[in-house]
Amino acid sequence: MMMTKDVDTLRRRAAPLDMTAAEFRAAGHGLVDQIAGWLERMPDGPVTHNESPADVRRALNAERGLPASGTEPRELLEEAADLLFRHSLFNGHPRFFGYITSSPAPIGALGDLLAATVNQNMGAWRLSPIATEIEAQTVRWIAELIGFPTDAGGLLVSGGNMANFVCCLAARTVKATSDVRKTGLRSIEPRLRVYCSTETHTWIQKAADLFGLGTDAIRWITTDEQQRMNVSALEKQIDADRRIGELPFLVVGTAGSVSTGVVDPLAEIAAVCRRHDLWFHVDGAYGALAARVPGAPDSLRALTEADSVAVDPHKWLYAPLEAGCVLVRRPEDLLRTFSYRPSYYHFDNEVTNYFDYGPQNSRGFRALKVWLALRQVGRSGYLDMIADDMRLARHLHALVQQHPDFEAMTQHLSITTFRYVPSDLRPKRGLPEIEDYLNRLNEDLLTRVEKSGEAFLSNALVGSRFALRACIVNFRTSLTDIDALLSLLSRLGLQADEEMTR
Ligand SMILES: Cc1ncc(COP(=O)(O)O)c(C=O)c1O
Repeated sequence: MMMTKDVDTLRRRAAPLDMTAAEFRAAGHGLVDQIAGWLERMPDGPVTHNESPADVRRALNAERGLPASGTEPRELLEEAADLLFRHSLFNGHPRFFGYITSSPAPIGALGDLLAATVNQNMGAWRLSPIATEIEAQTVRWIAELIGFPTDAGGLLVSGGNMANFVCCLAARTVKATSDVRKTGLRSIEPRLRVYCSTETHTWIQKAADLFGLGTDAIRWITTDEQQRMNVSALEKQIDADRRIGELPFLVVGTAGSVSTGVVDPLAEIAAVCRRHDLWFHVDGAYGALAARVPGAPDSLRALTEADSVAVDPHKWLYAPLEAGCVLVRRPEDLLRTFSYRPSYYHFDNEVTNYFDYGPQNSRGFRALKVWLALRQVGRSGYLDMIADDMRLARHLHALVQQHPDFEAMTQHLSITTFRYVPSDLRPKRGLPEIEDYLNRLNEDLLTRVEKSGEAFLSNALVGSRFALRACIVNFRTSLTDIDALLSLLSRLGLQADEEMTR
């Protein structure tokens, strides 16, 4: 017979996972000191470590089995921090110019600790009273910051993909000709069609796939020479689809494309949507947060006209991952899309219960880190930081325009694309074999930069040209870092060219 512990031993329970206040204090203070020390040193160290997957797995002792018994929290936290500090890519490094992933605001990190400790379930108001109100205030402040109506509905989700998904689902529910939530897409006789430019982020394919439209439902609209949606092609396609009995329902405009940061002509797209009674969604995951920033493109302002906007606090609000934000002009459209009321829920209808407004049931308190940062620096702090990021990106563009080693390509918001061109090849640009070589050379250069650990860039395809892409969503980047980047690229570019032509 299996021996069980006498239930009496549980009268005063001492679970191995719990900590006394003194233990928590000691472990927490130790960790905070370690993080503060790293934050101080990190800008002077490498952006990333040139390690193989095998190196990383070895450092972790990846193959070991589940520990049979436990380890002291203090010792564990020290080890975990040390592993992360030695084997990570630091997007908070001043010379991280990679993807649209921001430097995380330190107050956001502390906010996450607080949020996790109080551990509110943000599904229902009663389970998270003040936290739900903080989320509602955060969503309203984000709307206010970008100039969207502050009585819009919205909630925080994990990121840009999810925020776009939620808006896309709302569009589908509202514009479908039948009760699509109940009967599914088969019930809709005409085929639903969604329109977006060829520069749209891949969330659109995932959405079309996940929500049963199928990726064939996407009408890819061509772009002009600046990679902005060609609005007359959009309208022609909508007309053509209507003529053959299909059901256009959604147009996606991008406010800051993932590749070059270009902003679609949002006002013109809004007018087409009004004319054809279509849902107008703006993917502003990256660029929407610049909408009211001096120096940002005027075309961003028309996002006010959208039915929905996706905005990413973990991009230009510098929130630690993860935080995306959904904004839907009419809050009832979110309720129509997501609300189910099971019999075992007895929640007050007078308050916001977020399970009714999005796909998640139990939800974490993502809003706290965003709310704290918004309060720490206020509107003016954000407008300044975003404007500074854009100023630095424009400055980089001006430098590469003048520099004999580089060719400038695009500059939008805080993304600058350019390429390294050895001086002897400058006059031969455009010849197929030279273009092919320049593509290979710049791809090689990108890898060298990453391996050096001295900076981190990403790439874009501009037409068929492989471009280096510097994206500044980073309040730690300064002019010194931009100068250092160009010296590094000149040095490594020369090295790559010599080795490839040897
Ligand atoms: C324009 C745009 N939309 C959507 C996304 C997806 O966002 P996330 O990676 O937060 O899901 C990105 C990511 O860079 C983006 O730039």
